[in-house]
Amino acid sequence: MPVSGDVPWPCAQHTGAKHDIYRRYLERWFPILLAGSNAYPSVTYAEGFSGPGVYSGGEDGSPVIAMRALIEKVPPNKGVARFAFIDDDQRCVDMLWDTLRAVFPDRPRPDTAMPLKIVKGTCAAHLEATLDIMKAWGQPIFANLDSWGNAPVPYRLLRRLAANVSSEVIVTLFPQHFVRFVSTQGEAADEVFGGDPNWRTVMDLAPAAKSRHILTCYREALHKAGFSYLLDFELIPRNGQPLYLVFGTGHPLGVKKMKDSLWEVDRAQGVGFRDPRDEQAETLFAFDEPQLGPLTRLLAHKLRESGPVRVQELRDFTLFETVYRPEHVIEALKPLRDQGALNVDGGGPLRIASLVSLAPAPSR
Ligand SMILES: C[S@@+](CC[C@H](N)C(=O)[O-])C[C@H]1O[C@@H](n2cnc3c(N)ncnc32)[C@H](O)[C@@H]1O
Repeated sequence: MPVSGDVPWPCAQHTGAKHDIYRRYLERWFPILLAGSNAYPSVTYAEGFSGPGVYSGGEDGSPVIAMRALIEKVPPNKGVARFAFIDDDQRCVDMLWDTLRAVFPDRPRPDTAMPLKIVKGTCAAHLEATLDIMKAWGQPIFANLDSWGNAPVPYRLLRRLAANVSSEVIVTLFPQHFVRFVSTQGEAADEVFGGDPNWRTVMDLAPAAKSRHILTCYREALHKAGFSYLLDFELIPRNGQPLYLVFGTGHPLGVKKMKDSLWEVDRAQGVGFRDPRDEQAETLFAFDEPQLGPLTRLLAHKLRESGPVRVQELRDFTLFETVYRPEHVIEALKPLRDQGALNVDGGGPLRIASLVSLAPAPSR
């Protein structure tokens, strides 16, 4: 769907935070894959919805952010980095060419070291074909699928990406889009969810549960597509609609690096984060300190289900099942212990090796 207004457009508050996450992650991704100890000969950074590369206030768009990450973090003699950009608005395609020429007037790498394709057309019709033409498959691909939130991405492409070596996706999702149009969207909309119509039960849910349901269905679709590890989180601007990012990878290191990027995001962006699974929907860091209340609740819930476990196991759970980092776990358990709700086997301080369980509720 081409842009309805002017190109370029203003950079919204959550877009700044989203770009900060992309940048921090890609500054890790490119060097690990092209210059790390198990480096690949080549990688591909691909966007299905690239935009014009610039915002009306002059801010960089995601294609420029990605190229800068490569140029600044990887020495020129380390492998090949392909860039594939698709957009179905001719104005975006033209402006992206102009922007890249203006930002990088001297080609930073020769074409052989940094092949580039910018294609006018839909992500559905052109992204996979462009990756074929560029011979990207068989080497790592990072696919940034930053649509307006409706994620019109063929499921077949997601499956192929998940099966490709060391490949990852990050998808922008606006659950409100699906909530609003559920009654008017035909079967084609099920394709976004891997053909599963379960997302449509959103119609029967209470308003507060709707976004979470859409997100859960999308997570399941990515998981079924073959991404073993998922991380999703909600970016909450002070004003404006929340936005969800869903990240899928086949590697625990990918989750860890994405999470590090998330937690480093500049708080000055004025954007908070939430774990979509927290029932009380508390913002993670509205202030300088992380808000650990949601993690305390998630850990209590986990302990209720699992019985006694080592803190290490709770750290793994935290890394793979929440937006928090393993380093947050002991701090988040302390309020439970201080209230007498947590048993630490053998007493003493909470450590990674401690065996912990929920204390039985006092009888009345
Ligand atoms: C959110 S903007 C992308 C912003 C960009 N990723 C950035 O962060 O700088 C979405 C872009 O997707 C394009 N678009 C919308 N529907 C599309 C489709 N089905 N296929 C390809 N491009 C599409 C729009 O023209 C717009 O430029």
